[in-house]
Amino acid sequence: MEAKIAVIQGDGIGPEIIKEAKKVLEKVAKVYGHTFSYEEVLMGGISIDTYGEPLTKEALETARACDAVLLGAVGGDVNTSPWYQLPPHLRPEAGLLGIRKGLNLYCNLRPAVLFKQLREACPLKDSIIGEGFDFVVVRELTGGVYFGERRTFVENGLRKAVDTMPYDEKEIRRIAEWAFKVARKRRKKVCSVDKANVLDTSRLWRQVVSEVAKDYPDVELTNMLVDNCAMQMVKDPKQFDVVLTENMFGDILSDEASMVTGSIGMLSSASLSDGSFGLYEPSHGSAPDIAGRDMANPIATILSAAMMLRYSFDLCKEADRIEQAVSQVLEEGYCTCDIKGAGDKLVGTRQMGSLIAEKI
Ligand code: IPM
Ligand code: MG
Repeated sequence: MEAKIAVIQGDGIGPEIIKEAKKVLEKVAKVYGHTFSYEEVLMGGISIDTYGEPLTKEALETARACDAVLLGAVGGDVNTSPWYQLPPHLRPEAGLLGIRKGLNLYCNLRPAVLFKQLREACPLKDSIIGEGFDFVVVRELTGGVYFGERRTFVENGLRKAVDTMPYDEKEIRRIAEWAFKVARKRRKKVCSVDKANVLDTSRLWRQVVSEVAKDYPDVELTNMLVDNCAMQMVKDPKQFDVVLTENMFGDILSDEASMVTGSIGMLSSASLSDGSFGLYEPSHGSAPDIAGRDMANPIATILSAAMMLRYSFDLCKEADRIEQAVSQVLEEGYCTCDIKGAGDKLVGTRQMGSLIAEKI
């Protein structure tokens, strides 16, 4: 097949990890007879430096015209980078929120899988890990407090700030449908996470999710409060299959989920809309402290490229092959410094990418 991929290298380690993902994609193209073309798009800090804003209209339109987007990471050091002296809507992260909203990428899938080779890197006790765990966080990505009205003002001589968290039933229904569909291809369990003992949005969330559940009688639905979920994720992560939740809860829980798998450097993500279009990025950030030092783990980005093949291009065989290649390389004892305990052959970003590409 032929596919056009918008590539957003971004900032920090972004360019290095994207390079390795492209290396692997090119090997897949060669072995399976596909043609991938790449369209470079600027976003984040590099776009601020070039155009004075984190995402230009042109960049958004270029991305939209492609079949999928592969993203490295955006942002810099909040304490030292001049980007963070700018007003919030001109900072790197505004580019990320802009592309999510602009391309209607409302469904964010963040798998949390413990690779058996990474057992040593997992902070949980052996008795909790058991046979390992494998769940996916389905996070609503274009609504809630991230996109609600907000303002900062002075009232009665006091500085005050307000953020609002709106959700309508349509927004809840469409993400719930995604969660049930994903569950059908897995262990058929959805745990919907909310704060229904306090928030109106959560009470509506629970109602609508229960309505959607009626169309999926083969999938088991449970509800859990978000504070309890944060606890259960470290107490017994094996209990989860699909964790469905709203935007901010999903942001927080997906970081926790990634940590219990041993390293955030291993976790991919997909941000999807209604059709086959999607944006694929590692779950980690731009790690400016190790940028340009051939130290970053490219695996999360390589696995994100595999998700792109599976969800946007329907190339499941090829996606499986990339995942197997990653697993084999770990099995042989190769590791990057973030997963040091997992193997005895410490390699850099470039070599890790090459080793994985060679296995395809
Ligand atoms: C994430 C990130 C973003 C978010 C930030 C960078 C705006 O933490 O993708 O999880 O909060 O969504
Ligand atoms: Mg986050």
